[in-house]
Amino acid sequence: MNDMKLNGYLENYIEKASLFLDKKALQGNYTPVEIPHRDEQIEQLAGILAPALRMEKPSNVFIYGKVGTGKTVVSRYVVDHISRVSKEKNKDVKIIYLNCKMKRVADTEYRLLAQLATAFGKRVPATGLPTDEIYKIFLKTIDKQRQILILVLDEIDQLVNKIGDAILYNLTRLNSELKNVEISIVGISNDLVFMDNVDSRVKSSLSEEELVFPPYNAIQLQDILKNRAKLAFRKGVLEEGLIEKCAAYAARDHGDARRALELLRVAGELAERGSSGRVFIKHLDEAEDKIERDRILDIVKTQPKQFQLALLSIISSLSRDEEIFTGDVYEVYRENCLQSGLKPLTQRRLSDIIAEFDMLGLIHARVISKGRYGRTREISLAIPTSNIPEIENLLQESLGL
Ligand SMILES: Nc1ncnc2c1ncn2[C@@H]1O[C@H](COP(=O)(O)OP(=O)(O)OP(=O)(O)O)[C@@H](O)[C@H]1O
Ligand SMILES: [Mg+2]
Repeated sequence: MNDMKLNGYLENYIEKASLFLDKKALQGNYTPVEIPHRDEQIEQLAGILAPALRMEKPSNVFIYGKVGTGKTVVSRYVVDHISRVSKEKNKDVKIIYLNCKMKRVADTEYRLLAQLATAFGKRVPATGLPTDEIYKIFLKTIDKQRQILILVLDEIDQLVNKIGDAILYNLTRLNSELKNVEISIVGISNDLVFMDNVDSRVKSSLSEEELVFPPYNAIQLQDILKNRAKLAFRKGVLEEGLIEKCAAYAARDHGDARRALELLRVAGELAERGSSGRVFIKHLDEAEDKIERDRILDIVKTQPKQFQLALLSIISSLSRDEEIFTGDVYEVYRENCLQSGLKPLTQRRLSDIIAEFDMLGLIHARVISKGRYGRTREISLAIPTSNIPEIENLLQESLGL
């Protein structure tokens, strides 16, 4: 593009009305005013937590459901309302919401307690005190007056991943150390088997009540999308049937509302970038490809070198042969190691890596039993063929091959 053309494009861009009214309405951190299809969960959670407004300790609740099923949005909605009502009625209810996935929030037990103490206005040193000491400070800080504390631990499985499960035991034991304050814990997780691995006493304490968030079906996703699209797009810019198709795509995946909203947003962005006056279904298809491509590239980029080399070996083995097995990949992998100066791992370890790729959705690995010779995996790529050259380049560049 020469100067004039580029200037023309940019000037044109300003003049053309955007397809969007307010793109933020499709972004992940947007707080929707309406939450369709979650009345039941909202009522149940409100019912469980409402005793706090009478200064009675609510039961602990454990909320679980797959990604994008509205766990976070519903929990925040309910606790925000409780917080508002408690202020109006002068009730001493304190709510702390922590997303355990966030860096520096709950990386260590110390950090978690420091965060909690800070929420009560107590400044504690960022490190340095023994954990016992910080527990004492925390308990003393909060226990000054009669109060109900609702502690929401979103993505609580991440907390356990980072710190270990003793933290859960400690948290459930806090009430026995407090005189004036009672703490209720709302744990949230999209890891459906998380609770199965937790100590049974802790488990029964944390899930005095349980709330399940089922995946949305296509019709429900349509309603969610329609509400948000009204805010996000100018009237009339969406092709007929676009929302329905978007909902159908997301319902087919996992009934994930986040994914549905992302698809719609990216479709809008692609339409806008292509100077289209409307968002068409073809933009939705492009959006789906783009999201999948970005997801794969992101995974590939962030893999350790050995993993990248293993993936590259799979790709080059498959360019030579249609049917390949772990052993074939291992040979190519060893050659590649020589070239790139990496120390080869054992075939056993490579086999584990291959299984991990399968889990990440990069390849399909079908385990085949070879009788007394053990097992092997027949490997094929799960990445769309059109993306392979780009990934191959990326890998070669990263590995200096
Ligand atoms: N019923 C709903 N109405 C409106 N928006 C919704 C609804 N359910 C989910 N969303 C939106 O979908 C996105 C994902 O929802 P949310 O973050 O609550 O999912 P989640 O269950 O917490 O997922 P994860 O397990 O990944 O944390 C958010 O942008 C949220 O605003
Ligand atoms: Mg969430």
